[in-house]
Amino acid sequence: VVSTPPTMMRAVRLHEPTGVAGLRTDRVPVPDPSRGEALVRVRAAALTRDELDWPVDRLPAIPSYELSGIVVGLGEGVTEVRVGDRVCGLMPFDRDGAAAEYATVPADLLAETPAGLDDVHAAALPLPGLTAWQSLFDHGGMDKGQRVLVLGAAGGVGQLVTQLARLHGASVVGTASPAGRDLALRHGASQVVDPTDRAGVQRIEPVNLVVDTVGGQVVQLAGTRLRLGGRLVSVAADPPTPADRSVTTSYFVVTPDHDQLAELCRLAGLGELTVTVDSVHPLDAAAAAFTRLQEPGKRGKVVLQVDDD
Ligand SMILES: NC(=O)c1ccc[n+]([C@@H]2O[C@H](COP(=O)([O-])OP(=O)(O)OC[C@H]3O[C@@H](n4cnc5c(N)ncnc54)[C@H](OP(=O)(O)O)[C@@H]3O)[C@@H](O)[C@H]2O)c1
Repeated sequence: VVSTPPTMMRAVRLHEPTGVAGLRTDRVPVPDPSRGEALVRVRAAALTRDELDWPVDRLPAIPSYELSGIVVGLGEGVTEVRVGDRVCGLMPFDRDGAAAEYATVPADLLAETPAGLDDVHAAALPLPGLTAWQSLFDHGGMDKGQRVLVLGAAGGVGQLVTQLARLHGASVVGTASPAGRDLALRHGASQVVDPTDRAGVQRIEPVNLVVDTVGGQVVQLAGTRLRLGGRLVSVAADPPTPADRSVTTSYFVVTPDHDQLAELCRLAGLGELTVTVDSVHPLDAAAAAFTRLQEPGKRGKVVLQVDDD
């Protein structure tokens, strides 16, 4: 049974561009879905490291760009979802996010949450899943049989890059600090190197593609492990110019994509893709959740769970 949404809701908002210190929990009006949008009662909303730096030109802003929940209202013209549907999705980055009791989302970006996936894991899939998909296939041009080096293989995005590359027939070498080594191996990396071990990184056999989710000095070193004509794709920072002119480098920002998300959900529902969740926090403890994002030793995704009442 889907109850009528109230007029007011709790929402976490960033008021000042000061990171975690700028967050407050406010009471704000429940948004009205515009044409083509669905109103979703949020069950869980996942967080990404550094995301509090993104909306600083439109404060106050509700953070978190990926959610799971139940459709409770529809704007005009919506045909893609119905009230009562269990959905998840990546939201556009130029609007309020999902760290709230309700959120409006373009309905054509939502995918049905598969039966085998709980709300917390469904919220943690869209952003890293789509980022991984687009880095490997849209920007990395990955093919079966290739070798891929994933920088940050135990991180939120890196764990999905590792699994998707393996599922599509690549072999994966990952970098991860010692605490993430087992997770990277479990997700399908055949070799894991500590990124602070320069000699170890230099010994990695040549690869066709580097996917960088970390940034910093290791990226330059990783670039030297590329084969002739290889590609380096980063989602963390603009990559350095490669010494080898046959190598191409690029940085991109993930875009919501319904069909890619539906495929990711299908794979997750079958258990062929898993999302490791580091920790789950109540909405009112958003500051602690955002603090956790920055801590060494975090493995996988940090998720806000919005309670039932
Ligand atoms: N461009 C895009 O579209 C896009 C999409 C998603 C994410 N991102 C960005 O990509 C980056 C990775 O996202 P994520 O969710 O995978 O993050 P994450 O899990 O926090 O980080 C990935 C890896 O980076 C290392 N790391 C952890 N904390 C760090 C810190 N404070 N500073 C530097 N490195 C740290 C860790 O690797 P070790 O094992 O080496 O410790 C971690 O496993 C973030 O900056 C995020 O904002 C961009």
